[in-house]
Amino acid sequence: MHWTTDRSAPSVGPVVITKTRSPIRSNVGLKAVMAVTGILLVLFLVVHMLGNLKIFTGETSFDHYAHWLRDIGTPLLPHTWYLWIQRTVLTVAVVAHIVAATVLARRARAARPVKYAHRKKVNGSYAARTMRWGGVIILLFVIYHILDLTTGHLNPQGDASNPYGNVVADFAPERWYVTLFYTLAIVTVGFHLRHGAYSAFRSLGQQTPRGERRARAGALVLAVALCAGYLVVPFAVLTGLVS
Ligand code: HEM
Repeated sequence: MHWTTDRSAPSVGPVVITKTRSPIRSNVGLKAVMAVTGILLVLFLVVHMLGNLKIFTGETSFDHYAHWLRDIGTPLLPHTWYLWIQRTVLTVAVVAHIVAATVLARRARAARPVKYAHRKKVNGSYAARTMRWGGVIILLFVIYHILDLTTGHLNPQGDASNPYGNVVADFAPERWYVTLFYTLAIVTVGFHLRHGAYSAFRSLGQQTPRGERRARAGALVLAVALCAGYLVVPFAVLTGLVS
């Protein structure tokens, strides 16, 4: 925040102090940060989902794909460098997304003259009201998921050279509770994404009832497609389609 003295103010009387915010810290700037980082995260989700679907092409092909991920950019970049660049960009995006969301939520609360008498009457969809806790659950899920399928610490097999085997071991029928946990987390991602995408589409599209309806439908289609694309993998293992 910059404090500036208004020199055009009359020389007599009190000095007028005006508050100006750098563009990135204004509400519009923060919403742009939310949108740009949100788009990056959705892009990752779409690409990751498509990569996961390669499990249906068989063990050799899936493992080959996972090894190839470590070689993207070579020989220009050394082995795994691309992956580390992607991890850094995603981490920065997640942190910026959370910080911008927190600042915007605090400002919205501070600007509200009186607290709502009945919290239940807060307007907005279920997805809109669950954004904060949804975000926290997704963050906790991602930490668990990395320890499960990237580092292998929480995976029954945990063999970095055989991601196909790790996925099959993870969602084995006797570990149905892991599939249940993944399902809840992915549905949470779906709700979070539906609201985020709806806000983004609404800002980009026409500000008319028709535009609103389109934004709502587009966000719903994106969220359902993504949920289905993710859930099909654990359920294929659970039902023995992939083994
Ligand atoms: C059932 C659904 C999912 C399956 C089967 C799955 C599978 C995997 C596998 C096998 C890996 C390790 C890839 C490798 O190291 O070669 C991985 C990494 C990862 N997944 Fe998932 N995933 C699922 C859902 C998700 C979701 C919903 C998110 C995000 C909300 C997510 C975020 C990540 C991240 C951040 C990594 C680490 C990538 C890295 O190493 O840089 N995954 N996933």
